[in-house]
Amino acid sequence: MKTLFTLSLLATGLLATSAFAGDAVKGKATFVGKGCWQCHGYEGQGGSAGPRLANTQLPEDAVISFVHNTNGIMPPFSEKLISDAELSDIYAYLQSRPKPADPKTIPLLNLK
Ligand code: HEC
Repeated sequence: MKTLFTLSLLATGLLATSAFAGDAVKGKATFVGKGCWQCHGYEGQGGSAGPRLANTQLPEDAVISFVHNTNGIMPPFSEKLISDAELSDIYAYLQSRPKPADPKTIPLLNLK
């Protein structure tokens, strides 16, 4: 009985995650654990050293390829340091970040 319960939980988990390539919650932990935040900010909002990554327009495979190879300005993270699956999770995390506010929705910026 216990096994059946565990199995059905596992199956639900698989179904729940299959709609997305990456897992945003795991992605956040990896983004922090691998030190991406040190240059790009905890939310991927951009930092003193690295540009904004949150809601990037780059496709997922371009982000994965960039992190492994880079352009020489960012230090490369080889497949040994971070896997493609971990980068898919990071991508899901970055895409889950809120978009910057539209200035039209900020009352102070719309005083006449
Ligand atoms: C030592 C600082 C540093 C760390 C750590 C770092 N980056 Fe970067 N990253 C940069 C810089 C600087 C750039 C911009 C390179 C350029 O000027 O073209 C960049 C660019 C990028 C880009 C391309 C953005 C674009 O729009 O072109 C991605 C994607 C990226 N980083 C992801 C990551 C991820 C994921 C991690 C963690 C595994 C990470 N970075 C860790 C410094 C860093």
